[in-house]
Amino acid sequence: MHKTKKRLLSGIKPTGDLHIGNYFGAMMQFLEFQKNYESFIFIADYHALNQVKDPKKIKKDSLEIVKAYLAAGLDPKKVHLFKQSDVPQVTELCWIFNCILPMALLKRAHAYKDAVAKGKSVNMGLFDYPVLMAADILIYNSDIVPVGKDQKQHVEMAQETAKRFNNIYGKTFKIPEIMVKQDVAVIKGLDGRKMSKSYNNVIGLFDSEEETKEKIMKIVTDSKRPEEPKNPENCNVFYFHKLFSPKSELEKIRKRYKEGGISYQESKEILAKNINKFLAKIRDKKKKLDKNENYIKKVLEEGKTAALREAQKTLNKAKKKVGVI
Ligand code: ADP
Ligand code: TRP
Repeated sequence: MHKTKKRLLSGIKPTGDLHIGNYFGAMMQFLEFQKNYESFIFIADYHALNQVKDPKKIKKDSLEIVKAYLAAGLDPKKVHLFKQSDVPQVTELCWIFNCILPMALLKRAHAYKDAVAKGKSVNMGLFDYPVLMAADILIYNSDIVPVGKDQKQHVEMAQETAKRFNNIYGKTFKIPEIMVKQDVAVIKGLDGRKMSKSYNNVIGLFDSEEETKEKIMKIVTDSKRPEEPKNPENCNVFYFHKLFSPKSELEKIRKRYKEGGISYQESKEILAKNINKFLAKIRDKKKKLDKNENYIKKVLEEGKTAALREAQKTLNKAKKKVGVI
């Protein structure tokens, strides 16, 4: 890895059953970043613990998401890919940060405020979520942290944490930049709402070809007959053509919508074929990875070694500064 590259860090929550919304909204960004940054990317399994209380699920989803990212093209030669829980130095640093951050600051965090507003019971892990995140970010001396809009405030809290520590103990932590991708489209689901596993309207990245086709054939349309002109921009089927159908075919389909002469059935059949073609490579690679868990372990092991090296250096600095070593 090239020394002069800026260092990027981000965490991915281990969510199961990835869908094409996740692919276009999150995964593709990381594939782009790996070209230009030295990337540290980890599976935020400790963060997930505050919500998920099913050990099998945490274990399975953590592995699945690693396989999914590798299948999508994340290159372990360019990226340190590891599990958050493999670097216990992070939780140690989190404790040190806990001792300098006022509760009043953490009470302003969106995730906490939302949970309180909804009357949910809040565990300490949820309350402390931004502090663990600050430790994640600052321990690797990250230059840049790409996140979705919903996580921006948490990264601002990490910046605040670095400043507070540096003020009390002298310059120790680098203040990282936040990168919020503005132009990431929100991908719509089969029913036209935001694609989300909680709405049950997803096209799964790893659905079988048959499942994909079945889902597409069930998309609700109006009842215009084949020969009638149709408005492509009002059609949920055409929406997906724009994402998956090759340009030249897309324009032909658009024309046939406008002029009449294509049935929704035919449009859906073409779409299912194109989605399956688009996803074939990722799906094949994932199947190969499913059979090669030793390789996954090796990737995570290498990521862990690189992460530990960095984390231990930073933690030692911080421990000296606060006076415990
Ligand atoms: P879900 O809504 O299915 O539970 P998650 O909240 O686990 O998805 O999202 C994981 C990542 O994928 C986040 O970075 C999120 O911004 C992105 N993402 C999820 N759904 C979409 C979508 N419909 N369009 C674009 N990005 C999405
Ligand atoms: N909280 C992030 C999310 O919900 C995941 C995460 C954990 C993270 N630690 C991080 C992201 C550090 C960026 C940097 O998606």
